Amino acid sequence: MSLENKKIFITSALPYANGSIHIGHMVGYIQADIWSRFLKMHDHDVVFVCASDAHGTPIMLSAEDLGVEPEELAAEYTRQHENDFKDFHVSFDNYHTTHSEENESLVKEIYGKLKDNDCIRTEIIEQAYDDKENMFLPDRYVRGTCPKCNEPDQYGDNCEKCGATYKPTDLIDPISAISGKTPSLKESEHYFMKLTKFNNMLKEWIETIDIHPSVKSKLQEWFDVGLRDWDISRDAPYFGFIIPGEEDKYFYVWLDAPIGYFASLKNLSDKSKLHFEEYFHDDPTTHMVHFIGKDIIYFHALFWPAVLEGAGLKKPDAIYVNGFLTVNGQKMSKSRGTFIKARTYLDHLDPEYLRYYFAYKSSSGIDDFDLDTVDFQNRINADLIGKWINIASRSSKFIRDHFENCLSEDIDDDLLEIFNNEAKIVKGLYQKRELGQSMRKIMLLADKANQYLDQEKPWIMIKDDNEKENVQKVCTNALNMFLKLTIMLKPVMPEVAKNVESFMNLSDLNWSNISDVIKDHKINDYENLLTRIREEDIERIIKK
Ligand code: 2FM
Ligand code: ZN
Repeated sequence: MSLENKKIFITSALPYANGSIHIGHMVGYIQADIWSRFLKMHDHDVVFVCASDAHGTPIMLSAEDLGVEPEELAAEYTRQHENDFKDFHVSFDNYHTTHSEENESLVKEIYGKLKDNDCIRTEIIEQAYDDKENMFLPDRYVRGTCPKCNEPDQYGDNCEKCGATYKPTDLIDPISAISGKTPSLKESEHYFMKLTKFNNMLKEWIETIDIHPSVKSKLQEWFDVGLRDWDISRDAPYFGFIIPGEEDKYFYVWLDAPIGYFASLKNLSDKSKLHFEEYFHDDPTTHMVHFIGKDIIYFHALFWPAVLEGAGLKKPDAIYVNGFLTVNGQKMSKSRGTFIKARTYLDHLDPEYLRYYFAYKSSSGIDDFDLDTVDFQNRINADLIGKWINIASRSSKFIRDHFENCLSEDIDDDLLEIFNNEAKIVKGLYQKRELGQSMRKIMLLADKANQYLDQEKPWIMIKDDNEKENVQKVCTNALNMFLKLTIMLKPVMPEVAKNVESFMNLSDLNWSNISDVIKDHKINDYENLLTRIREEDIERIIKK
């Protein structure tokens, strides 16, 4: 799928505004950010947005517990998340919230179209009800004994022990997780999106978009079981948008959440030159890409495109799905010390280490990957410091001490041409989001540069006055290789790349600058660009 001349709209999944972000969440955001930065380095027209997912029962209940309004709680987490993303160098062009005017008006508009196009129906359903709290209970808020294996204290939708799925009403001795009382059953009218109408459209559409084969086969399994209409309403009390014409019924958070992608874009368009309508309507010049975790495929690849089709709007062109992160081979867990909040990591370590490690471990597929803390430390120290940064620190000191920081006029074009050619392969890997392969390729090139220095031995040549000029040439070649590698790593390591730009007295390097040759050019004194990770740093994070 060519992205030439397209207006590319990239989204990252909207985090719920009722808890802190952990490093597992960061996987998808970092992948999306790297891809977006890579495209921007090619002067593609890219807009990359995110927002807080502010609505829903959990946020309402957390706010109640804390004695604050849900708006206040959501605003607080929105600020926190924005800072976490900023400090991880995730460069959203806009960060907004689903609890916004833009979103409310888009939700109403889309819902109106769905109604006009006969995509909505109502049905009376029976649901668990907490008589003490006067509220209907979402499945996750009913707990009881599994009807299949008798394991106590299971959620109302599935058993963590035997994996059985069921209705909350099937649980043995159910209780409300909010009041602890036995729930009753109560009827209420709900709104449904007629998903079944879209069965064929969705099957055909999946074949036209960029989506990994493993995601496609997951979707095929769901098609085989058969789609069911989707319940898009919730009864009061609820934190969300009220359904037009109703007094105590709200849109389910998952209806307004993805519309929040457009709300964030709309919010950006109001303060920039961007034309919102071009992205919103089915314009062939726009290309919409969602980066999501594998737990929310159903919402993005079935519900969301059905909603968009039903409303006559543009459907996604690509859905890129990431797997989950384990830490030292385990699911993140507070008791094992493997639950690492984004902020805890940032308090102790450089975000670019983690960006590199995640890139190194990433593929275009949906496999989970592990952050092994020993491997992490070794990988960063060996690759980033031992290979990449080493090229600059080894060669720049000769340029400084003997040539007043001036690069030679004479360079080895053939040698540098090898790097230019390899960069094309690296580019292809980035395009396909094969980040791990791309990092490995870059490190092989870094090995080549170091081998070159090992062979030429400028530290020996410098002792011989007749070889002096040659030292300048060798180190200039090495610094040119270093620069090419830096440009290739820039989407992953944007801050170090910026520092390299000032060290080399250059600015705003784009991908096309890879083929430039820097000669007869004055650079600045080399200052340490990146330090090794020490074991204590990692231990401190785990302890925290
Ligand atoms: O699963 C989640 O964390 C959701 N808050 C993701 C929403 S993505 C989009 F649809 F808004
Ligand atoms: Zn069970």
